[in-house]
Amino acid sequence: MRTTLIKNIKSIYGVTTNADNSFKKGDQMKNVGIIHDAYILFDTKILEFGQMTDCPERADLVLDAQNTILMPTWCDSHSHIVFAGSRENEFVLRLQGKTYEEIARAGGGILNSAEKLQKADPDDLYRDAYSRLKEVISLGTGAIEIKSGYGLTFESEINMLTVIRRLKETTDAEIKATFLGAHAIPTQYKSDRKAYIRIITEKMLPYIAENQLADYCDVFCDEGFYTVDETDHILEKAASLGLKAKIHANELANSGGVQVGVKHHAVSVDHLERIGQEEIECLKNSDTIPTALPNVSFFLDIPYAPCRQMIDSGLGIALATDYNPGSSPSGNMTLMMSIACHKMKLSPEEVFNATTINGAYAMEIQNSHGSITVGKSANFFLTDQIPNLAYMFYHFGTNHVQRVWLNGRLQNE
Ligand code: NIG
Ligand code: FE
Repeated sequence: MRTTLIKNIKSIYGVTTNADNSFKKGDQMKNVGIIHDAYILFDTKILEFGQMTDCPERADLVLDAQNTILMPTWCDSHSHIVFAGSRENEFVLRLQGKTYEEIARAGGGILNSAEKLQKADPDDLYRDAYSRLKEVISLGTGAIEIKSGYGLTFESEINMLTVIRRLKETTDAEIKATFLGAHAIPTQYKSDRKAYIRIITEKMLPYIAENQLADYCDVFCDEGFYTVDETDHILEKAASLGLKAKIHANELANSGGVQVGVKHHAVSVDHLERIGQEEIECLKNSDTIPTALPNVSFFLDIPYAPCRQMIDSGLGIALATDYNPGSSPSGNMTLMMSIACHKMKLSPEEVFNATTINGAYAMEIQNSHGSITVGKSANFFLTDQIPNLAYMFYHFGTNHVQRVWLNGRLQNE
């Protein structure tokens, strides 16, 4: 592929060498590698970068950054962007005082989305998810994890995972697929939960593993959804088929989800709005990366995960959007990061690390994504004329991302 040189970059953020590109913890989250007055040379991968005084003279294409900032694209490690319809009626009900749990118990929530999805044409699902993906790429996202979980039948769950596979094949975004058949108990199985769980473990999981339709298996382990024992059973089966775990844990109650996730060496445990010191200690002795979803706390008006306390205790965290129609109808990473700065009292550097190298770790792509490192995929964006990193989150609600490259290919102009 042709080489491209971008010169006159005001600052490159997220610079790391190969040696230190693992998941950042505690005080390490305060550090972001920066080079000022820089260039970068790339094809599909990053070939070299450095200060303008060392800038190469030639490349197939030379671009001038005109003193704007370059950052690695965001890694959004938790999303549900394949869905049908929308749920603004539930949003209005919540504004009137109904809770997320009350709406779910009355057949709304996830079951509402499942009913819509089961009736949808897979081509329409693909088209809508593709346009959401294009939207988030234009906002700076370069890698994203996408879950099933609005199908809740064998056929519809497979349809969702097939849509995710099509997205992988037709876009430059790096995509990880997660099977979330255990997202809710379908209404017809309310009085026989075991029967639905048997369909997950005996039918869905074997088919998905055999056809390599998912990278991970997730369970919504929370009050009113799946119990710790059910989660344990499903993850056990997934592991026996070679699927690693990710968990929705401790969103609605202190559910035991963190502990069962750590027990299964989950890649990440996500949500964590209701965790205490015990869960923090459990995570400290693990390789599992805790992942918080500030948009959900904002949108459902529930507590924020205690990320300040977690980082101050020495943990590393990832942050993701959870883009979905019920608890976070936004995939805007920069806006989510701004919310995390305000409401979780995280610094711009901490939210940056949580959505770049740590987000990459939460999708096991830290060796190819999440930082500006020679040999990694050429995934980065140039901003508009902003002075520094903090300004991105300070001037919230404006898209400061201008030109996005994924695998060295320009996505927008
Ligand atoms: O991550 N908490 C569980 N699942 C999704 C929300 C799903 C929905 O309400 O549609 C989440 O918040
Ligand atoms: Fe989620």
